[in-house]
Amino acid sequence: MSAHVFWAPGRVNLIGEFTDLAGGPVLPAALDLGVRIEAEVADAIDLCSHELGGRAQLAADGSPYESETRGWARYVAAVAVELSLLGRPAVGIEGEVSSTLPIGAGLSSSAALEVAVGLALCAVAEFPLEPLELAQAARRAEYRAVGVPCGILDQAASLLGRAGHAVLLETGSLAFEFVPLPADIALLIVDSGVSRRLESSGYASRQAEVERGLAAFAERAPLEITPAEIDEREDKRALDPVAARRLRHVISEADRVHEVARLLHDPSPANLQRIGEVFFAGHESVRRDWEASTPELDCLVDLARENGALAARMTGGGFGGSIIALAWADQASGLADSVLSAYGDGGGAPAKAYVCHASDGAGQIS
Ligand code: GLA
Repeated sequence: MSAHVFWAPGRVNLIGEFTDLAGGPVLPAALDLGVRIEAEVADAIDLCSHELGGRAQLAADGSPYESETRGWARYVAAVAVELSLLGRPAVGIEGEVSSTLPIGAGLSSSAALEVAVGLALCAVAEFPLEPLELAQAARRAEYRAVGVPCGILDQAASLLGRAGHAVLLETGSLAFEFVPLPADIALLIVDSGVSRRLESSGYASRQAEVERGLAAFAERAPLEITPAEIDEREDKRALDPVAARRLRHVISEADRVHEVARLLHDPSPANLQRIGEVFFAGHESVRRDWEASTPELDCLVDLARENGALAARMTGGGFGGSIIALAWADQASGLADSVLSAYGDGGGAPAKAYVCHASDGAGQIS
């Protein structure tokens, strides 16, 4: 039996941070960095990885052979279990996992792994799933593996991505459309070197806080709540200040996503300038109202803006990780060098820059 190759990209979110926790819009692009699995049909699951280190050895339905599954193997197990629950026949895979995605940089290395494993397991068992069905199974797997109630952003972006485009996804209805990215603009990602891990961050507590805020508006669709209503309920003490801040972020961020998507359809100089303003407002909102930025991310955003980025903001789950900057393609590596040298070593792990292009989503390569 010959080996099959599967690929799942990481993602960068242009804007729409944490909105998926309230069914709001997101605007990610799939990256040209990702996870590759080369595997053939087997009785059980046996994947090894030189880069990630270690091995995932499980029964074909995801049951661990030992009492506990650790490291990246827990994502593999969780995906297999979620797919079994959907009725996937218990066919195994044996092969190798490799990855070009930095871990902990906020570029969805775990979602890319989940999606690649999901594609491989579905293919060998001849159990086809629609991309968004697989994305939802992979998202449940993330929760099963690490206990964090994340949104659908990462897994959907990995599956839906299209070269040269961002994906405008309404995470409530799951309706999506592609938004063209100007060919002369590159996506510059700068990893702060401050590693983030969903399970150890304040991500879950933020999610509980925004839910508390939404509960105070139980009768309303989340995205119809207005900033004035949030102020009013906070003044009347019907909404606590923390939940009010989290809601303010989500509501204002939803508007910013739609505005950026609209502006990208006509990337005139004035519209690009406006995108820069909206990105920065988004960064400030994450910093002030969602409280998930870090001094390192703030510093990188400022440096990117000072050194000629068209737009810059933190991206991903916060509490570390990366910023996204939009830059003219022919200036992106110069901008990366300027930002990195001005940032220095910050006392922690050194920052790293990646000049990326929006790429196609996950699939079977051969
Ligand atoms: C993480 C989660 C996503 C999303 C982002 C923030 O990446 O997995 O669902 O909430 O954070 O936008």
